[in-house]
Amino acid sequence: MLESVQKVHDESRQGEAIAPLAGDTRIYSKKFYIESYGCQMNFNDSEIVASILNKEGFGATRDAEEADLVLLNTCSIREKAEQTVRKRLSDFKKAKKARPGLLVGVLGCMAERLKSKFLEEEKLVDMVVGPDAYRTLPSLIQEAETGQKAVNVLLSREETYADISPVRLNSNGVTAFVSIMRGCNNMCTFCVVPFTRGRERSRDPHSVVEEAADLFKNGYREVTLLGQNVDSYYFVDEAKDEIITFARLLEKVAAISPLLRVRFSTSHPKDITDEVLFTMARHENICNYIHLPVQSGSTRILQLMNRTYTREWYMKKVDRIREILPDCGLSTDIITGFCTETEEDHEDTLSIMEYAHYDLAYMFAYSERPGTLAARRYTDDVPEEVKKSRLAGIVALHRRHTLESMQQDVGKTFRVLIEGVSKKSENDLFGRNDQNKVVVFPKMHYQKGDYVMVKVEDCTAGTLLGKVVEG
Ligand code: 5AD
Ligand code: SF4
Repeated sequence: MLESVQKVHDESRQGEAIAPLAGDTRIYSKKFYIESYGCQMNFNDSEIVASILNKEGFGATRDAEEADLVLLNTCSIREKAEQTVRKRLSDFKKAKKARPGLLVGVLGCMAERLKSKFLEEEKLVDMVVGPDAYRTLPSLIQEAETGQKAVNVLLSREETYADISPVRLNSNGVTAFVSIMRGCNNMCTFCVVPFTRGRERSRDPHSVVEEAADLFKNGYREVTLLGQNVDSYYFVDEAKDEIITFARLLEKVAAISPLLRVRFSTSHPKDITDEVLFTMARHENICNYIHLPVQSGSTRILQLMNRTYTREWYMKKVDRIREILPDCGLSTDIITGFCTETEEDHEDTLSIMEYAHYDLAYMFAYSERPGTLAARRYTDDVPEEVKKSRLAGIVALHRRHTLESMQQDVGKTFRVLIEGVSKKSENDLFGRNDQNKVVVFPKMHYQKGDYVMVKVEDCTAGTLLGKVVEG
């Protein structure tokens, strides 16, 4: 099965182990090890799980061999993600044989879909816990410790974990993610998320602002507000008789401090409003960067995908963004080879890419997911070789666009938030500009968390290279 080619923010991340928290000096009687797969929401969920487990006396470890509890926070978005998790589980099955007391749990999106398979047929795991059931982990662990199989995959209409402060694991101390909503009501026909993560619900804005303000107090300088579809954030504050839209929430978070940068992801093109765009324009610390998944450039395919917009409508949205935010970075998700996709549809995708000229794209071959509307209604009829060659065409075009977009920035000066030391050289630092591009420059006396003005002198396909012109 084909997979994403681009190094992506989420789904192609092949799992990441969570490190113990630097500076956490508490003594824990037991240790847990967690690997997260999939989107940023999942990574953030692992931080909520860590918080719940810390309270139960479990400390995080980087080393699965010393763990009493191994957790895999899983993703179902494409078949490949599921295969990777299954392989990992068979590794842990061997570890369980060697250490019979070891508990293994599956969390997240695969839990609901595959609970019986994991527990009964494959006898791979002791616990299966869905994304809305993490509060019940303590009792599920107790149950599993007695040798019973522990399962809770119930989805909720209310759970937002608003009161749980995520334990920041694997953090750079500068940038953090804050979940503002869970679930999705959109029902794109290719997507399993509405089934694995349930109905959409928005988190209390006070708890969002409190979490972001706390992060700022602790030295963080950037928060990314996360949700499957952030623009449909909607909260009725009954106490104040006030409706909080996403734009209002953005405004509240931006007001914490001009030194706190605010980003957000993901926006559904149908939901991002002028109100949001104008709010971005008004606040310098709301980054000019929008992730606006197009999925396809063909109106016919968009209809089959139930995206609820046409090609022309999407293009107008891009125009509007450019009009209100002329220097806005734009990224996208593209699926190639969706059911019935013809060469002509594919050409439409290439031409919409030319139109939007994305700075970044996450590109995928369609992977049929059991239970989705597309799996029930349509045939996955584009041959794998065709998907592969169309994906290669899309990737090649995108490479040209990103390189052009980087080259256009040579000679410009950007405000950069420093995130750490460059991977390639100890003498260089790296950070990102407003448009989310990575910028590398000589270290001098600057530090992580500082803002600096960097003049770009050169670039590669993925990085801007420059020098600080003003601290
Ligand atoms: N096949 C391929 N890609 C998919 N995505 C979601 N479902 C599928 C699927 N069944 C992609 C979409 C979405 C991103 C998170 O993953 O592009 O925006
Ligand atoms: Fe899936 Fe569509 Fe919801 Fe995104 S908006 S999570 S693609 S159903």
